[in-house]
Amino acid sequence: MKRLLQTLNGEAVWPPPVWLMRQAGRYLPEYRAVRAGVKDFVALCTTPALAAEVTLQPIRRYRFDAAILFSDILMLPWALGHGLEFKEGEGPVLPKLRDEAGVGALDPARVSDRMAPIMETVRLVRTGLLAEGFGETTLIGFAGAPFTVACYMVEGGGSKDFAAVRGMAYAQPALFQRLMDVLTDATIEYLSAQVVAGAEALMLFDSWAGVLSPSLFRKHCIAPASRIVAAVRARHRGIPIIGFPRLAGVMTRDYAATGVQGVGVDTGSDIAAVAAMLPASMAVQGNLDPLAVVAGGTAMAGETAAIMHAMRGRPFIFNLGHGIVPQTPPDHVAALLEQVRAG
Ligand code: CP3
Repeated sequence: MKRLLQTLNGEAVWPPPVWLMRQAGRYLPEYRAVRAGVKDFVALCTTPALAAEVTLQPIRRYRFDAAILFSDILMLPWALGHGLEFKEGEGPVLPKLRDEAGVGALDPARVSDRMAPIMETVRLVRTGLLAEGFGETTLIGFAGAPFTVACYMVEGGGSKDFAAVRGMAYAQPALFQRLMDVLTDATIEYLSAQVVAGAEALMLFDSWAGVLSPSLFRKHCIAPASRIVAAVRARHRGIPIIGFPRLAGVMTRDYAATGVQGVGVDTGSDIAAVAAMLPASMAVQGNLDPLAVVAGGTAMAGETAAIMHAMRGRPFIFNLGHGIVPQTPPDHVAALLEQVRAG
């Protein structure tokens, strides 16, 4: 079995398998070269040959234990017919969904057609990995968790406090629940299609789970993740799922109840403390600060050594605590891998 899958199966593989969130992207010159040739980011995500190419780029350079499908969590609202644009230097921009009409306009029936190119990317990456001699690399599919996707849809993009979406969850609970249900059902179909196309593990990104109060966290993070994990694993026996309830702090304890096989830990959390809240067989993934990789040298080495020391002896996947940033020198990533692989 591949090392990453063994780990998600509850084995303490050492040295640990390693991959990095956002490992395909702007810190790589070969990514920027592909990106410069396409009209926009959505076009890159929906052109299978190019999306497969950029998925494979970091594997060729670093032989990571996992390749993560190149796409974006916001491709699901795009497929539901909600607008999506990525503006240079501004990040994603979406229409603000605030009322019944907004939820009513979402069209789950069109998702499978619009996502067809992404499934083609999954197939191309799976065959590409084998053809290029990366038989040990696991292909990870992913989706945004419903709450995090709802954050961008309700706010119309990023936000510093997500006041509109949190306000909607309190003030219009029935409407917000309908939005969450539409997103949860669509996420089940979307992840399931990725498994059919060749994804060997799945990750659910709940990047803004930490802005929720404990009761709303249970309702809009734990409950939808539990539904997604149960439905996807009922259809695809044994498919491992990693959840990433970012910034959830002590609430991460409740995440074990979702039925995931792995839990991602953010940079600000003590990874040993989070691991201690979870069952011993549940894999933990994380959590080097992306800025430590920008710095490199002894700063990066010290942080890495501490994480490795804390996680030795338990199922663990080395990763960052959030996505790699564009100013990261590629040779710092090579040095990081050398250290992790030395155990
Ligand atoms: O390499 C990989 O990890 C796979 C591809 C991937 C991307 N985004 C590509 C991307 C994945 C898994 C994501 C997840 C994602 N996207 C999340 C969850 C993880 C997290 O970072 O919290 C979120 C919240 C998004 C939404 C998103 N996409 C934002 C806020 C932005 C703008 C900020 C930025 O980094 O530019 C994006 C754009 C984006 N997604 C880029 C990439 C490579 C950069 C766009 C470009 O190259 O022009």
